[in-house]
This record gives sequence, structure tokens and C-alpha cells, in this order.
Amino acid sequence: MSESCKKAYITTPIYYVNDIPHIGHAYTTIIADTLARYSRMAGLETFFLTGTDEHGQKIEEAAKKRGKSPKEYADEISGRFKALWDEFGISYDRFIRTTDEDHKLGVQAAFKKMYDKGDIYKDVYRGHYCISCEAFFTEMQLVDGEFCPECGKPTQIVEEESYFFRLSKYQEPLLKWYRENEKCILPKTRRNEVMRFVEGGLEDLSITRTSFDWGIKLPQEMNDPKHVMYVWLDALMNYLTALGYGTDEKLMDFWPARVHLIGKDILRFHAVYWPAFLMSLDLPLPKHIAAHGWWTRNGEKMSKSKGNVINPKEVADAYGLENFRYFMLREVPFGGDGDFSQKALIDRINSDLGNDLGNLLNRLIGMSSKYSDGAVSSAKVAELYPEELAELHASIDWLEPLLYEMQLHRYLEELWRPLSVANKAIDRYQPWVLMKEGKEEQALALLGLIANILAKVSVMLHPVMPQTTQTIARALGFTITPAAYEDLIVRKDLLSDFSVEKVPPLFPRIEEVRMAEAAPDVEAKQAEPKKAEKKAEKPIEGLITIDQFFETSLKVGTVVEAEEVPKSKKLLLLKVDLGEETPRQIVAGIKEWYAPADLLGTQVCVVANLKPAKLMGMLSEGMLLAAKDDEGLALIRPERPVAVGTAIG
Ligand code: MSP
Repeated sequence: MSESCKKAYITTPIYYVNDIPHIGHAYTTIIADTLARYSRMAGLETFFLTGTDEHGQKIEEAAKKRGKSPKEYADEISGRFKALWDEFGISYDRFIRTTDEDHKLGVQAAFKKMYDKGDIYKDVYRGHYCISCEAFFTEMQLVDGEFCPECGKPTQIVEEESYFFRLSKYQEPLLKWYRENEKCILPKTRRNEVMRFVEGGLEDLSITRTSFDWGIKLPQEMNDPKHVMYVWLDALMNYLTALGYGTDEKLMDFWPARVHLIGKDILRFHAVYWPAFLMSLDLPLPKHIAAHGWWTRNGEKMSKSKGNVINPKEVADAYGLENFRYFMLREVPFGGDGDFSQKALIDRINSDLGNDLGNLLNRLIGMSSKYSDGAVSSAKVAELYPEELAELHASIDWLEPLLYEMQLHRYLEELWRPLSVANKAIDRYQPWVLMKEGKEEQALALLGLIANILAKVSVMLHPVMPQTTQTIARALGFTITPAAYEDLIVRKDLLSDFSVEKVPPLFPRIEEVRMAEAAPDVEAKQAEPKKAEKKAEKPIEGLITIDQFFETSLKVGTVVEAEEVPKSKKLLLLKVDLGEETPRQIVAGIKEWYAPADLLGTQVCVVANLKPAKLMGMLSEGMLLAAKDDEGLALIRPERPVAVGTAIG
């Protein structure tokens, strides 16, 4: 682990209990879980915090509507978050609730400290307040002089006695911190945004309310019982109180946080207010505040009223939790917005996971059981495949910094490079040919290379897909542990000799969408053509659904054998490697346009789930895709070589 400190404290935002968990919450939590798992595997003492944010007017009102007390209501929703994270195997070390007693005491202790220091004073506040966002806005920020710039709801003018935090005092120290710590806010573009905001001037912040009750009271010795704390002061403090701040401080040596993971909508609170509070408390500032983008559905913002909110449990049940984790991290560059589509998820499962990773393992299992009764050795790998091994290790060296910069999509992209090295090595050296030619040592060393690639990729993929990667490791005779990380990744050792254990296919192909699409009103809205498009609209006949399309399995393969069919003017007999245990035999009517020698080693597109048929007495297990015009026939081929077995779609 290159970031020096031996402890890592990783946090998610604490979720409001006015909403049930959705895909946006799952995204933040899964990223944090991945970082926590990596950090533990890399031998760091790790503390991973998540929880729920339960005070404030919004919650008080939501509870009232349901005829419950705020606490009863908070218990119910908080319980749902916790149950979901438990079901998802989220590896948190504490699930904090802002209604926890130690949290309340810690917040009061912090308030007292800031007050005694002179950073908190009493005055009268008059401002435009949005109940929904729990935030005040200046006249300038309002939309049409009335509406909240964040959520669009009407704001209220609130005038009340309030305690203020001297935020203005921290304007310069904050700017200094941003300037001196290039990576304090990630992605870096967000740091510029925050700096512009702070340079625009900071006003003191009202941090108590008298207009509602459901919140933490001021410390008793302040003798001012009508005030409760502003929810953001209460909520942000969770990052400290979870470590025992102000009560039992035995975990405080985890501070400062390695990373506060948040969504972009709550950046101002975390990147401006929070470091100012910490400075006031004389505590060091977090290393990174990392803000991710928003998930939309079919291009629309998700909301309960539109009925298009995606339930993460439904996705995990339909497509597999770990596939879903992989998809979320791989699909969207960190910081950018992402659109959830089942088609994109299915593509990632079938292609990245099924073809690139799963098939490679299947090929290793198949070939090793055929050539060496399952035995695999690393003994000759370095000697016979030094280039491939160097490529593998070069990719791995890149990975950790990408993780620390929150470039999770790049991390996974880079991690797939060694898989492509392995798939290409099989195509290039063709172990079945090596075996036929009696070059057994080379063939078996190639299997050793593939096993080592799979092992190291599994270790680095482990934080994203914890169980699947343990299954791969089991097939390769080891278990993923911090010690295995140390050996295979840090010291770059190779696997000890082992006998492959057959495991069931890890990523069965998904042929069709498995969840109902968005609610009807959303679909109807999407289906409604925009005005400009209406005129040009012409019905297209014979339309098929995506499900019908996926009924055809199209794959890229490499021609490994080609010969003429005797006595036939039209037919060639081909063997095409589709990444399966043995190449497919395909009888193709292309002899008029292609000679066998022109086809050898080239790639073709194959209909892979066609019922086998006999042509001139020979079995054909697929069909090549081709286009024919006046000039003759042209095979359809990928624009660049891709791994054999890659799905087309
Ligand atoms: N309670 C505050 C956080 C206090 S932290 C000291 C809060 N809660 S929230 O439940 O509204 O949001 C929690 C997180 O979920 C935020 O990081 C937010 O960005 C994220 N998401 C909510 N909806 C989202 C999407 N549609 N997409 C991605 N993440 C989004 O804010």
C-alpha cells in the first residue's frame, strides 16, 4: 500500500431515513465497501463506517404523516438500510445512527468546544430555507426569487434566534488547504468548483433551530433548551463520534479519514463546512473527499414520484449481486453521471465477465484436464513466457494508484488487460497444436501462465467481487487472503504447483432482460417522440424486441483449421475457436470467394446457437455471418482482433 499510514478510515454518507434504499445509495456503499475490502486485503487496519441520518424537520414531518413518532419511523427505515447492507455483505465496522446516545454526546462535546473557542455566537437568523434540502439559500441563489435551486420546491422565509458558526473566519485557511492538497477533493475538477465557491465569500452559518424539536439539544450547561442542532452539523459529526469523539475515544487514532465517499450533491457540506468544523476542533483534515455522480434511469433522474426508482435488491436478485457490483464500478467513470440500463448490465456480464474471465477459466480447466490430468505448474512460466509475465506485472503495478484516485472504472479496465494477454497467448501459441507437435513443456507452461494471470487478476478483483473471486482461487488451489496478496501482488511470486479443481461456470450467459422496465408513465414519456422528430416518423416493419435479438448468440471466433470439402464446389470445412473447450466444426458455403489459406488465423463472426446440421454428411455446428452483393461475398469480421468467444451485440 503506497499511501503511508497503516490505518484506513473509510466512510459513506449517512443516509436520510425519509427514503428507502435505492441504487444511488447502493452505489456509494458498494464503492466504499470495495475500498475497505482492498485496504484490509493490503494489510491496513481498516474502519469502515456507514449509517443513517435521522434528525430534522423533514423526518419529523414524514413520521407525522404516517402517524408515528420520529423515533419509531427512524427505527423502521434505518432498519431497512441495515438489513439491505447485511444482505449485500457490506463489510462495515459500525452502522451509526444519529439517534445513538454516544453520537449525541459527542456532538454536544464538539459544540461546547467550538463555543468555548469563540467560534459559535448567538444572533437572529432571517433567511430562505428549504425544508426538503435542510439548507438555507441566499436571495441570489433562489430560482424565480422563491424556489430552491437544488430541488425546485418553494422555500420559506425563516426568522429565528440562532447560534452561528464563524465560517467566514475559515475562508482563508480553507483556500490554503485546497491549494496545498491537490487531491483533497476528487475528482480534481470538483476541487476547482469548491475553490470558486469559497473565493466568492463565506458567510457565518446558522447551526441551531428553534422551529422544530426533533434534533440534538445543546449541551445542558448552555441552558438554552429551545435550540436543537442544525442537521448538517449533527450529521457531519458522525464521522468523529463513530470513533468515540467526546465519549470513549479509543478509536480516535483512525482519524483523519482516508476518504469520505459522497455524491456530488452533498459536496458543499463536506468540502466547506466539514473541514471548517474540524479546524475549529483543532483536528486534522481528511485525506480525500471523493464525490461521485448520479445514476439516472433511461436518462431521467430517479424519483419516487416518477416511479422509476431502481431497487438495488431487485437488480441483485435478477442479475447477481457481484455482477451488479462489477457493473456499477466499471460502467461509469467516477464523478460522472451514469445511466442504468439492463442492456448495458447484460453486456458487461456476458462480455467482460463471461467471455473474458469465465471462459478463460473454463479453457484452463478444460485444457489442463486434457493435457496434464489437472496438474498445473509455474516452474517454466518465467523462462518460456517472459514477455507475457512482464505485461501482467506491469498492469498490476498500475492498479493501486488508480484505486486511490477513485479511478475505479480505469482500475477494472486495466485489470482486464492481463486477461486479454492470456486470451491472445492461447490464440498465438495454440496449446492444442503444441501438444500435437510434442512440445508438451511449452503447452503446459502456457497453462501455468494462464493460471497465474487468473490468480493475480482474482486477487485484485476480490474487493469488487469477493465470493466469485474466491471460487476462482479455489479452482487454482489457493485462497485469497492478505498473505496471498503479499505473495502474488506485492512480491510478484508465482502460484505453487496445484491440481485444478473443476468449478461450475461462473457467469452463465444471460439472454434476456430480467426485470420489468421503468413504470408505464416513464416508458410512455420516453416513447413519445419529440416534436421535431414526429414528422419524419415512419413505422419500421418487422421490429423485434431486445429479447428476440438476444435469442441469437453471435460470437467472434478464430479460424484454426480450413480445408476444401472434396467434390464440393461451394463448401469449405472449417474449425473455428470460439473460446470453448474444442474448436467448432463449421461447413461454410464460401469456397467460391475464399481459399482455405486466406482464412487460417483470421477472425469471423459466428451464429453460435444454431441447431447443428449435416452438410454432405459432415456436421456443421454454426454459421458464419457474411454479406453478399453484386461483387460477391464478404465475411463480416470485427474491426480489430478481439478475444475469441467475444459476444456480438
Ligand atoms: N443525509 C445526507 C448525508 C449526510 S452525510 C454526513 C444525505 N442523505 S441521502 O440519503 O439523501 O443521500 C445519501 C447519498 O446518496 C448521497 O451521497 C447522494 O449523492 C447519494 N444519492 C442519492 N441519490 C442518488 C442517485 N440517484 N445516484 C447516485 N447517488 C445518489 O444526503
